[in-house]
Amino acid sequence: VLVRNLWLSLDPYMRGRMDESKSYAASQALDAPMIGGTAGEVVASNSPDFKAGDKVVCGNGGWQLYAIQKPAMLRKVDDSRVPLQAFVGPLGMPGVTAWVGVNRIIQPKAGETVVCSAATGAVGTVVGQIVKAKGARAVGIAGGPEKCKFAVEELGYDLCVDHKAADFAKQLTAATPSGVDGLFENVGGQLFALTMARMNDFGRIAICGLIASYDGAQKTSLSDMRVILTRRLMMRGFIVTDFLPDWPAALGELIGLASTGKLKWREMIAQGIESAPSAFLGMLKGKNFGKQLVKLT
Ligand SMILES: NC(=O)c1ccc[n+]([C@@H]2O[C@H](COP(=O)([O-])OP(=O)(O)OC[C@H]3O[C@@H](n4cnc5c(N)ncnc54)[C@H](OP(=O)(O)O)[C@@H]3O)[C@@H](O)[C@H]2O)c1
Repeated sequence: VLVRNLWLSLDPYMRGRMDESKSYAASQALDAPMIGGTAGEVVASNSPDFKAGDKVVCGNGGWQLYAIQKPAMLRKVDDSRVPLQAFVGPLGMPGVTAWVGVNRIIQPKAGETVVCSAATGAVGTVVGQIVKAKGARAVGIAGGPEKCKFAVEELGYDLCVDHKAADFAKQLTAATPSGVDGLFENVGGQLFALTMARMNDFGRIAICGLIASYDGAQKTSLSDMRVILTRRLMMRGFIVTDFLPDWPAALGELIGLASTGKLKWREMIAQGIESAPSAFLGMLKGKNFGKQLVKLT
């Protein structure tokens, strides 16, 4: 199937693929198009399942304008009620990541407190909304007052703590007076250490991402493992593709919410493929506000 890529998703995992160390996926090959999720339109098809004009998403359409894909690599989407690019954001891999981390790992109960870092990013945006729908308290962590305001006023987080504030630790304590029952960790580093210290007995920690450590700037470590024992914590790292059987249910739920205007998100759009590298670097530094996309047309 020949696909014209219309939208490219920029995601933090791409940074990991640029390393040679052993990971859950192979490193990015040299002299090959950079890996990247895309949303686009079928131009021509030798498959009975796709026809010209169909809108599709692809886990690896790559940083390129056109791609020939095997049908199994494509998912047809209906963009009549939600914009096409949402299928690489809240209605795609990042949205499912949020769904899996909350529903399969943290499993919040009504009244519990769940903290999520990078709260206004592609994943964190959805985490807060699912946590709230379960009757739990959602506390976000984000970089700067504007992002924190958005997290509370638009995404429904009960509170959001600015990790750039000088008294971040004090603010986090004030925002979690009864401690933390669930931690959706997207950042790692110092933020993780401080939030970890707030965990309640039998707390659940979903290690989704450690973006602060991807370029080696900050180490993410536990100063004392004893806390896992004494507070009987459960900590699990996860990769969303390990949960493929959950994807249809997760996407169904998220698409349903989005179609009725109940799921909120924000996008940051870089124009043209030539803007992808700088937008990607910006995202790793927190310059993105919402889902970082590249509009390829
Ligand atoms: N496990 C999986 O299957 C899976 C799938 C998708 C994503 N992820 C992970 O989930 C995390 C979020 O991904 P995303 O796509 O939603 O990205 P994102 O949140 O849209 O963008 C990254 C955000 O991370 C924050 N950040 C970056 N460096 C930071 C630092 N040193 N300290 C504090 N915050 C920092 C920034 O937000 P602030 O300005 O608010 O700090 C930045 O906007 C990433 O770690 C990613 O690798 C994991």
